[in-house]
Amino acid sequence: MTKWSPNSWRNKPILQVPAYPDAAALAEVEARMSTYPPLVFAGEARKLKKQLAAVAEGNGFLLQGGDCAESFAEHGADNIRDFFRAFLQMAVVLTYAGSQPVVKVGRIAGQFAKPRSSDNETKGDVVLPSYRGDIINGIEFDEASRIPDPARQEMVYRQSAATLNLLRAFAQGGFANLENVHKWMLGFLSDSPQAERYQELANRISETVDFMRAIGITGESTHALRETDFYTSHEGLLLGYEEALTRVDSTSGDWYATSGHMIWIGDRTRQPDHAHVEYCRGIKNPLGLKCGPSLSPDGLIELIDILNPENEPGRLTLIARFGAENVGEYLPKLIRAVEKEGRKVVWSCDPMHGNTVTAAGYKTRPFDRILKEVQTFFEVHRAEGSHPGGLHVEMTGKNVTECTGGARAIRDEELRDRYHTHCDPRLNADQALELSFLVAELLKRDREVLPAGKVANG
Ligand code: PEP
Ligand code: CO
Repeated sequence: MTKWSPNSWRNKPILQVPAYPDAAALAEVEARMSTYPPLVFAGEARKLKKQLAAVAEGNGFLLQGGDCAESFAEHGADNIRDFFRAFLQMAVVLTYAGSQPVVKVGRIAGQFAKPRSSDNETKGDVVLPSYRGDIINGIEFDEASRIPDPARQEMVYRQSAATLNLLRAFAQGGFANLENVHKWMLGFLSDSPQAERYQELANRISETVDFMRAIGITGESTHALRETDFYTSHEGLLLGYEEALTRVDSTSGDWYATSGHMIWIGDRTRQPDHAHVEYCRGIKNPLGLKCGPSLSPDGLIELIDILNPENEPGRLTLIARFGAENVGEYLPKLIRAVEKEGRKVVWSCDPMHGNTVTAAGYKTRPFDRILKEVQTFFEVHRAEGSHPGGLHVEMTGKNVTECTGGARAIRDEELRDRYHTHCDPRLNADQALELSFLVAELLKRDREVLPAGKVANG
């Protein structure tokens, strides 16, 4: 294999690149950004990798979620708080049911670049370049907005820094204290179908917290009660931006992406000899790899050879996104190949990207298909004796109407009411919590059948 450097990806074929009209302006922005402070530290990425290693060994569960695409328009404290609250609620439901640690990773503070199925978008007889995420161009359907503008990368850097700053404050400054488990309920609609269920669970947690306090374990004495580890992740798609924020860690001498803790490779850009795989193989962060129907078992092993040659547990998370109808056919083959070769990975389920349909003129995802994919994912793992290690979702803390169904039964005609996403349809806070209760049941069932550390046919 040729020598890796932060810019060796530039010698490889690449897909999904924006056509910047002014190469000199782009180079100037990239040079400036390469002098900016890192957004995350190598030590944090290593800590996440260690937590994911435990998940790969069957102990723990990864919850990864957030916007499909963050946007400049939706940037604000309320959105970040509402997301974080919904995410914490999901995590606490999963922790309680599974009696195992939940590794919390947001699709946030850097998730701005989008791969597109077509280079152009057509409306009537107007053809314009596709929107590729706020880091590249504007979503408005006019010629000026769609021109890639490198200055947007610096806006993303600043927005990510501000978002991360607030998230760190929430995670460590008291908001995430388990003694607040009831307060996370505030802001939730009182008629929410999930409210009662959540309230019940929060009561049980409160009782446990009260008991612990009685024997001297409190938020003041125990940091695990008082604060939580929360990590950031995004698709490493715009490689010039990633390169500019790639730094050597002075303690280990290794290279890290410092734009986020975990970087994933999308389903459209995972060709083994192409630029995105080249960039990711050289950074030491935990990596995600989206696995869709076009990935063969041999193709997967080839990618694992490149991305995790030392078979380090926690390095690689395989994010299965086959669609409810396909997962039962494709996933077992990949699991068998990985098991046969003895590769250590985290298996996570993305039930969003294989289940997108059009209804009433909107891109949407029916909740029952999302659920079906998750259920089948768990069934397949149970049959194969492997660990269903994670859930990867597009979600928001807001009461949007982007995915149909759920307990509140959003209908096709209601999609237009609050359809705010800049890319794919997200679960709203209700649907996200409902999904986590359902996943909690699956985790609990597995725990009852399989005591910790045992595999089905082991
Ligand atoms: C995404 O996660 O937003 C995405 C584009 O996913 P995939 O690469 O799996 O299609
Ligand atoms: Co998406």
